[in-house]
Amino acid sequence: MSRDSSTSYPLATAQGSAPIPERMAAVVQERYGDGLASVLALGDAPVPMPGRGEVLVRVDAAGVDRGVWHLATGKPYAIRLASGFSRPRSTVPGLDLAGTVAAVGEGVDGLAVGEAVFGTGVGTYAEYALAKAGMVARRPAHIDVAAAAALPVSGCTARQAVVDHARVASGERILVIGASGGVGSYAVQLAAAAGAVVTGVASGAKRDFVLGLGARAVIDYRREGIDSLGAGYDVVLDLAGNRPLAILRGVLAPRGRLVIVGGEQGGPLTGGLDRQLRAQLLAPFVGQRLGGMFGRTARADLEALAAAVGRGSLRPAVTQTYPLARAGAALDDLAAGRVSGKAVILVREG
Ligand SMILES: NC(=O)c1ccc[n+]([C@@H]2O[C@H](COP(=O)([O-])OP(=O)(O)OC[C@H]3O[C@@H](n4cnc5c(N)ncnc54)[C@H](OP(=O)(O)O)[C@@H]3O)[C@@H](O)[C@H]2O)c1
Repeated sequence: MSRDSSTSYPLATAQGSAPIPERMAAVVQERYGDGLASVLALGDAPVPMPGRGEVLVRVDAAGVDRGVWHLATGKPYAIRLASGFSRPRSTVPGLDLAGTVAAVGEGVDGLAVGEAVFGTGVGTYAEYALAKAGMVARRPAHIDVAAAAALPVSGCTARQAVVDHARVASGERILVIGASGGVGSYAVQLAAAAGAVVTGVASGAKRDFVLGLGARAVIDYRREGIDSLGAGYDVVLDLAGNRPLAILRGVLAPRGRLVIVGGEQGGPLTGGLDRQLRAQLLAPFVGQRLGGMFGRTARADLEALAAAVGRGSLRPAVTQTYPLARAGAALDDLAAGRVSGKAVILVREG
């Protein structure tokens, strides 16, 4: 199926499958703004057609994460180079999804209409959304739709940070800064499952939550410095707080590894991306391994995460769910620190 104008919904995409409507309920956004509860509204939008290499997914649940918040607020401003300068280019927000393949574009192998999938797409705060075939995987029956929708961006980023970049090994000591958040909740579990001794940095109110993920100790960043339980960590995973490189290096072992993933409060223009750049510039001159990374959703990571859930070594920490109409409130709650772990939008409930 292509985007050619002679093809339009409603159409049945496989024998016996439900016809796809021309329009769908969707969260729509006409402008950037901070209080997203008043910027995002429940409305309707045309159901998109899958192009080459894409699938159309009938969305059951959609994940809430910082990336969606950045795209919806247009902050830091550097993000507008991709998302639209004065107003969002994509009027339907949302990245993570779990649902069922409703239609398959040309050149897609290995995915069929009716299969349960999860992954990352575009405009997922809607009844239907497009995704690149390589960014979705089959959803095994042991993972429910809310848990599956909570996995893609945060889970893939955590896995790439802990496994690919930091290469955390059994017995190593790792400090996870931002342990109570979306990425952190997976990173703590993945590092603990690898046999590492995990110290989490989070607000005191979320101490028990982080210990429940498998951390041995928690540092309350509102009351203590990240060196309050000593230094010499083999790995520091930096997800929050935008601390200067000198402070991060100060708690790292002489040959330790620093992986910078992100952090809010990094300034309105670049959001703190300069720290990643400076770490890479400094790296050749010091014994510590310093670097940053950008996460991306890939089918291999989704499958590895699903397998870990199946083995019982990983559990998507979904603590809050919202109906589609409250997507803006969900993103506001995330930005205000009112979410532990992951929040999910149940698209077809409420
Ligand atoms: N590079 C990439 O590709 C990529 C991918 C995903 C995310 N990210 C970035 O990574 C960062 C984390 O993402 P996320 O989804 O995990 O965000 P999140 O769910 O909002 O979690 C952030 C966590 O950081 C904690 N925190 C806030 N201020 C802190 C401070 N000063 N010191 C230590 N911890 C602090 C918060 O703890 P409390 O709530 O307990 O206060 C919160 O749990 C974000 O900046 C995001 O944009 C980057």
